[in-house]
Amino acid sequence: MSMEKTLIIFKPDAVQRGLMGRIMTKFEDKGLKIIGAKFMQISPELAAVHYEAHKERPFYKGLVSFMTCSPVMVLALEGVGAIAMCRKMMGATFGSQADSGTIRGDFGVSNSFNLIHGSDSPEAAERELGLFFNDGEILDWTRMNEGWIYDLSGDEPE
Ligand code: RTP
Ligand code: MG
Repeated sequence: MSMEKTLIIFKPDAVQRGLMGRIMTKFEDKGLKIIGAKFMQISPELAAVHYEAHKERPFYKGLVSFMTCSPVMVLALEGVGAIAMCRKMMGATFGSQADSGTIRGDFGVSNSFNLIHGSDSPEAAERELGLFFNDGEILDWTRMNEGWIYDLSGDEPE
């Protein structure tokens, strides 16, 4: 398992419902490292590129309206196996089906307003980080307690 970067978006419902801090705390508590953060309004053009894989789906129009209706918080997170780890923490796509203990399972009931986006593969993560962060906005910084988050005694963080 290698060190990965992933893109997370706290969707408009998470911002409007005042859940940003509580969701961010889950990632910080887990040991994921925040390497980028931005409070922004997504343009229809950016939403269209971000969700272009869903262009033909019946929910696409509503999805773009939802994602652009209000500000979002965008995070770049780093950790060993961070992409799958974040997806697991998010839970199933639909709030009605997401397990308790996951973000979608604990904080929502809706299938469309499901609070959070996370990249679903290394290819998607690279593409999405490039869409939402400009050069210099993802920081390579030293975390004081890194040696207690991971066992750094070997070749790779464990
Ligand atoms: P995301 O891309 O936002 O992280 O979510 P996901 O991978 O879990 O789900 P995905 O299949 O990629 O769907 C993208 C977003 O579209 C909305 N959706 N609504 N009403 C519906 O049937 C439906 N299906 C999907 C959700 O907001 C979902 O997160
Ligand atoms: Mg998706």
